[in-house]
Amino acid sequence: MNKRVFISFGLVALLLVIVIPLWAFNRDGSESSSPEKVAASDEAARELFATNCGTCHTLARAGTDGVVGPDLDERLASAGPAADAAAVEATQQRVMTAIQQGVGDGAMPAGILEGSNAETVSNFVARVAGQ
Ligand code: HEC
Repeated sequence: MNKRVFISFGLVALLLVIVIPLWAFNRDGSESSSPEKVAASDEAARELFATNCGTCHTLARAGTDGVVGPDLDERLASAGPAADAAAVEATQQRVMTAIQQGVGDGAMPAGILEGSNAETVSNFVARVAGQ
């Protein structure tokens, strides 16, 4: 193989191995293409939700699609984007109650989260449900 062929071959290989995956990765991972974009300050809450609630519940902003429990975007939609502070507060209380007491005779167990984690998640859910 002469040197020139070797180099062109190397360049093509480089393109396939590095450039294309990099391009695909950036494309998938770019913020603008993500449907589940949340503020950086909500990232911890989103993760708590995804880990502890998302297996059973759909919540678009958390990127979860669980179907064991109700779709929280639908169930709590009254707290949508235009909701005032009082509505968000009421919804947060409702979510806190669900977390603390469980729902439906153990269909959703009580106490999945406690303390500040429960506060953080219920506040997040109340603000983003229905969006
Ligand atoms: C094991 C599955 C499961 C997990 C995990 C789970 N839930 Fe549920 N959840 C359910 C089911 C099932 C219902 C509906 C029960 C019924 O209506 O009988 C429900 C109901 C609810 C409701 C509706 C209450 C209402 O007032 O209408 C809310 C809110 C809720 N869950 C929030 C959460 C949050 C927040 C988490 C995470 C901390 C969570 N759930 C984790 C299964 C789950």
